Amino acid sequence: MTTLPDTQPLATQSTPVAPQGVFITFEGIDGAGKSSHIGALADAWRARGHTVTLTREPGGTPLAEKLRTLLLSDAMDPLSEALLMFAARRDHLTQVIEPALARGEVVISDRFTDATFAYQGGGRGFDWQVLQTLENWVQAQPDGGTRQPDLTLWFDLAPAVAAQRLAGARAPDKFESESAAFFSRVAAGYARRCASQPARFARIEADQPRDQVWADVLAAVRNHGCWQASPGQAA
Ligand code: TYD
Repeated sequence: MTTLPDTQPLATQSTPVAPQGVFITFEGIDGAGKSSHIGALADAWRARGHTVTLTREPGGTPLAEKLRTLLLSDAMDPLSEALLMFAARRDHLTQVIEPALARGEVVISDRFTDATFAYQGGGRGFDWQVLQTLENWVQAQPDGGTRQPDLTLWFDLAPAVAAQRLAGARAPDKFESESAAFFSRVAAGYARRCASQPARFARIEADQPRDQVWADVLAAVRNHGCWQASPGQAA
């Protein structure tokens, strides 16, 4: 991998043995129904005595939220869109995600880099390998690795069903206004990403009653060994 000369790792080697936080992301096409479960999962972690940072992408910092406003409204070419997504992510990682994980906290993010592969890679057809290079730069770790979520809950839903759910819900943003064919490519992008890193993905069948989806979310968190037992609670 080529490294940018001025790219600093996200944490320094001199950091003493830091407590390990837990990083969980939610993904899926627009309309997949992840939003209500994100808040519920944060509450479940808090009930177990953990400090939770609940955040989102693009966004999560003042700068990244400004970029979000542009990204969700302004037309731009795929490279600009991908670069702005990663610029927002870099700020989010350095300002919010990495510090919270270093404190041993739970970070739950509504979307992360898998969305870039799905939307910019799958949806827009942007070069997958370039995205991987950007990912390696932006999410570089001191040990040479790349920051990834510990668990990604992928809400998988047929694009036609998601479109029905979205219809009339509110004024659609730039991405929500895309065609059915676009969302089919986004869904395929998620599937490709899931296949390339299966260990951290849990595929949630989003076309189920809400209680069952929630049960599957909890089961995935448990099965991936993410529940850290709080005092007096079983893992
Ligand atoms: P979303 O997180 O779904 O928020 P809301 O529920 O308020 O619409 O919207 C963010 C949009 O940004 C979504 O359509 C997906 C898109 N997106 C990308 O295209 N690439 C990315 O890397 C990320 C994080 C999001």
